[in-house]
Amino acid sequence: MMKREDVILVTGSDGMVGHALVHHLRGNFTHVVALTRKDCDLEDREATRKCFQSHQPKFVFHLAAKVGGIKANISDPVGFLQANALISCHVLEAAYKVGAHKTLVLGSSCIYPRECPQPMREEYIMTGPLEPTNEGYALGKILGLRLAQYYHQQHGMNVVCPVPSNIYGPGDTYDLERSHVLSALVRRFVDAREEGRNSVTLWGSGKARREFVHVEDVVRGMLFCMQQLNTPEIHNLGPGTDCSVAELAEKIKALTGYKGRIDWDTSKADGMPRKCMDVSRLKALGFTTQVSLENGIREVVKEYETIYTREHK
Ligand SMILES: NC(=O)c1ccc[n+]([C@@H]2O[C@H](COP(=O)([O-])OP(=O)(O)OC[C@H]3O[C@@H](n4cnc5c(N)ncnc54)[C@H](OP(=O)(O)O)[C@@H]3O)[C@@H](O)[C@H]2O)c1
Repeated sequence: MMKREDVILVTGSDGMVGHALVHHLRGNFTHVVALTRKDCDLEDREATRKCFQSHQPKFVFHLAAKVGGIKANISDPVGFLQANALISCHVLEAAYKVGAHKTLVLGSSCIYPRECPQPMREEYIMTGPLEPTNEGYALGKILGLRLAQYYHQQHGMNVVCPVPSNIYGPGDTYDLERSHVLSALVRRFVDAREEGRNSVTLWGSGKARREFVHVEDVVRGMLFCMQQLNTPEIHNLGPGTDCSVAELAEKIKALTGYKGRIDWDTSKADGMPRKCMDVSRLKALGFTTQVSLENGIREVVKEYETIYTREHK
């Protein structure tokens, strides 16, 4: 169990998930080391080793990763695989060398095979080919999780491996080159409403189904895993329910008050046809998510409206 005065280190602390986690940790623990790229480039093995040596963390939340939307993933598979593989190798080695008491490695639901039976159970990982549009990223994430499990198997290192579905919430990026589907849709509809456009064109057919988990639920889930689990087994983290991208778009359209039309550009890839996780493993241990999709979207709309107003003053 993490105690109030334990040194807790978070990688990727200025990202969406890291920011929310650090905010929570700082309210409850006294020695939180919030690492950013400025403190240490985790692609640099020696710098990572030195950084961990100087902080001597007892608990490590490893969240740093090269993350991006479908567009970025398609154009830079080399970058996504290489960065994520290197970062995880260096962080796990450094955590092992300082004798960290427990290390959490955050996965991602894109590690499941493209044609995965639904809902996706943890044992289906590595049973089939990955979705090609984000294969580089997925391979990097799989490597991080498997390496954590090898460290446990070979050296008895205490690691925990939650795997969240698509994460959204405050602090997400609205840059359309990098953004994920939910924040991108919020931006498209708010922009179209403010600029009086008659229609919004969205990528794909709208038929792909996705599961969304609010960042606060991811924080709660990670804390639950860190405090309660002592096994390197994968644990899916999410609500365990999905919706089609078209349903999501209609929901966001309604919540932003946009009155125009939605057109679908079916020449663009949909990505994986369906991604919904079986969350019974964490549920059986007592963890369930709490934020409803409607309330979560409302919060994101509010955040982006504030950004829009600030940028268009
Ligand atoms: N967002 C999702 O939908 C989602 C879903 C499932 C799992 N996850 C996982 O959740 C974790 C956090 O994701 P997020 O959405 O919060 O992404 P994010 O906002 O992009 O945060 C990732 C953080 O990692 C940092 N980072 C990347 N490369 C680094 C390096 N070489 N050295 C040091 N720091 C580095 C980034 O710093 P810079 O900004 O300086 O690059 C950034 O602060 C990741 O492990 C991701 O795989 C995310």
